[in-house]
Amino acid sequence: MPKPILLLTRRLPEAIEARAARDYDARLNSADAPWYRDGAEIARRAAEVGAAGILCAAGDPMGAATIAALPDSVKIVATFSVGTDHIDVASAKARGITVANTPEVLSFATAETAFTLMLMAARRAGEGERMVRAGKWDGWAPTQLMGVTLEGKRLGIAGFGRIGRELAAMARGFRMEIHYRDLRRAPPELEQGATFHDDDRDFLSSIDVLSMHMPGGEATRKWLNPERLSWMPKGALVINTGRGGSVDDAALVAALTSGHIRAAGLDVYDGEPKVFPGYLGLENVALLPHLGSATIETRDAMGRRALDNVDAVLLHGSAAPDGVG
Ligand code: DGY
Repeated sequence: MPKPILLLTRRLPEAIEARAARDYDARLNSADAPWYRDGAEIARRAAEVGAAGILCAAGDPMGAATIAALPDSVKIVATFSVGTDHIDVASAKARGITVANTPEVLSFATAETAFTLMLMAARRAGEGERMVRAGKWDGWAPTQLMGVTLEGKRLGIAGFGRIGRELAAMARGFRMEIHYRDLRRAPPELEQGATFHDDDRDFLSSIDVLSMHMPGGEATRKWLNPERLSWMPKGALVINTGRGGSVDDAALVAALTSGHIRAAGLDVYDGEPKVFPGYLGLENVALLPHLGSATIETRDAMGRRALDNVDAVLLHGSAAPDGVG
């Protein structure tokens, strides 16, 4: 029996590419050639090789047009990400194509990134680093680059899923008070004493630090808009490691410029890899290049999880363990 053909859109960690090549007729993109940015090209390549599966990644344009253009040979689209906002899951389902993601394994790493940004924003770490590198640091001074502490502050987690709850666990170590906003209240064993808010205004006016962990897509588009920003206390911090589209960038830049928002930390951007130009000149925003899950351990675990999903469908004829939709 020939091995099923698996098209990988992106370069993946070595052990993952090796496993894919062992179990499949794998068509790797080890050079990370940027054809993955073009949905029509992904579909063309899938048709050219007769792919049974596609292993794609966050940001690959797997919208309705790409899904419609895929050859009938494709049975699964497995994404190397927990987010599935780049895939038209309904269109895939209508064509009988399984969509699967990689939940759980990246929760801690992504929460670490959110915490990194919280500290960078609170303690002005980016500004300090730029000052030292530019040779502009002329010595310790009692009033230099004073930030704010996280200790005792009210952390508001928007989206209390696995990542949000990992962040809550870390923040308890910093003696922060945890608040959260979600569609529904979590059970007590997950809530662990955190305060649930069923209203955005009540939530945003009760916190000092907002950390956003919301899924992307139309439902959350520009959620953090001028009105919601105005509900936050003056001097609050904004962190986003979810999806860039959830923030109205012009509104956040205005709030950072006026000082209503003291500082922000962003790992994700609307229309990545573009970054809203207004951020680039601001000292009080820390900008990371979508590093959320970027640890060696996590990226290996994501790859294993993605291949487990592909194996289920293409090798074992069973349902993908992390099927979505
Ligand atoms: C995801 O998995 O959705 C991330 O954004 C990529 O780390």
